Amino acid sequence: MTDLTPVTFIATDLDAIAGHEGRVAVIVTPEGKLEQSARRANRLTKGAVQRFVDSEGFEKVKPGQVTSFAWPVGMAAEALDVVCLARNHSVEDARKAGAALGKARGGKAVLLAADGARRVAEIAFGLAMRDYDFSAHKTDAKDSDTGVTVMCSKPDEAEAAAAPLMAIAEGVFMTRDLTNEPANVLTTTEFANRLVEMKDLGLEVEVLEEAELEKLGMRTLLSVGQGSDSPSKVVVMQWNGGEKGAAPLALVGKGVVFDTGGISLKPAAGMEDMTMDMGGAGVVAGTMRALAKRKAKANVVGLVGLVENMPSGNATRPGDVVKSMKGDTVEIINTDAEGRLVLCDVMWYAQDRFEPAGMVDLATLTGAIIIGLGHEKAGVFSNNDDFCDAFLKAADKENEGAWRMPLGKAYDEQLKSRIADMKNVGGRPAGSITAAQFLQRFVKEDTPWIHLDIAGVASVKSATALAPAGATGWGVMALNRLVADEYETE
Ligand code: BES
Ligand code: MN
Ligand code: ZN
Repeated sequence: MTDLTPVTFIATDLDAIAGHEGRVAVIVTPEGKLEQSARRANRLTKGAVQRFVDSEGFEKVKPGQVTSFAWPVGMAAEALDVVCLARNHSVEDARKAGAALGKARGGKAVLLAADGARRVAEIAFGLAMRDYDFSAHKTDAKDSDTGVTVMCSKPDEAEAAAAPLMAIAEGVFMTRDLTNEPANVLTTTEFANRLVEMKDLGLEVEVLEEAELEKLGMRTLLSVGQGSDSPSKVVVMQWNGGEKGAAPLALVGKGVVFDTGGISLKPAAGMEDMTMDMGGAGVVAGTMRALAKRKAKANVVGLVGLVENMPSGNATRPGDVVKSMKGDTVEIINTDAEGRLVLCDVMWYAQDRFEPAGMVDLATLTGAIIIGLGHEKAGVFSNNDDFCDAFLKAADKENEGAWRMPLGKAYDEQLKSRIADMKNVGGRPAGSITAAQFLQRFVKEDTPWIHLDIAGVASVKSATALAPAGATGWGVMALNRLVADEYETE
């Protein structure tokens, strides 16, 4: 797994500023006030920092932004990073400032002289999150073992505050790694193996193989994977950190390790992006990792359906009718609408076995959600206003875009089939909603449920606030927050 940047918190030593090699970062306020370490750096550089805040250019500098001076005179560092941050900053600005440093770092040892700044742990979190680089397949990748040192007034407090945040960052890194990984590496078997490794963190992990899935009647899930040489699997991860016997929150993820479309083959252009079609399962895995790492006091079960959607002589054909674990039959009109076929069986199994207090499914489900919401917000669908509001609040707190979409009977009618209980597609209009309607047919009436269509946010072509281009890990922070705010005892 891509390693987290090691961050060490130590007491402030102003004399370290002159001699630190690598990068030194100091803080100035948006009003142009130099904090203690900035004043020291200013003295060393014969007034460079003061001239910068007095310059016209400084007016355009926003909170959270970093301005770098290369090879500052009077210092051993190769760069002096001047961080603009208000004394009374928000969590978002603290993370943004850290992210700007993470982006600038380039593997170099950073000494952040934060003095008495608030939220130093959040700055470190932002730095670690943005300092991600998926270099597993770069043969010239250098292992940078240089870490980040944060000098602050209360290093012990900062370190304690940073520990749960770094657990989240580690979860996000796992999600990003899984989502970025190509499909020849991340086969269903490799994916399951990486989840089994999480037993070391105290998670209970079970892998259900094809024979068992067959016995359980998960025919819609199996119908998706039957054209692939990679065996279909369902992995169940349990974290029981809450009250014994209390109903868990269930997280269910779509794990299509590659989506060719099957017999309803996708066009060649852009098909390579479908390595990320296991993004929902990736978020479930990363969230379970974060919860286990920070020993969350809640019961959460993560379930992922791992399959590969390939065309072959055994592949499901358009027009085939298959029976779900629930017992409902589905006419498969389009083999490219496969995610819902995987999810419906895993969701049914999750409810059947765990009777969860709530269920959230995550899936890179429809291209239509990208048309509707772009890459800014995930689509949120729910049968329960309170549950949905709690999630939207959690996502908002973590600055992860989420927007509620409607459900309704009229949309559901689009799924009528002449020969089976339903079709797997509802036509072009409202494609994301009919996909959600399909899933809702597999949600028991008394299960509070949220469906997150993350096709637009799981992996993006340009950098976001806390991630470089590629997999974002969207959802790990929001789900972790949901668990912390709504499910944790104490
Ligand atoms: N995995 C795709 C959805 C997707 C598209 C994810 C773009 C990420 C980026 C999904 O399985 C799919 O193919 N959906 C079809 C559904 C259609 C056949 C009803 C789509 O969106 O075109
Ligand atoms: Mn598809
Ligand atoms: Zn898909």
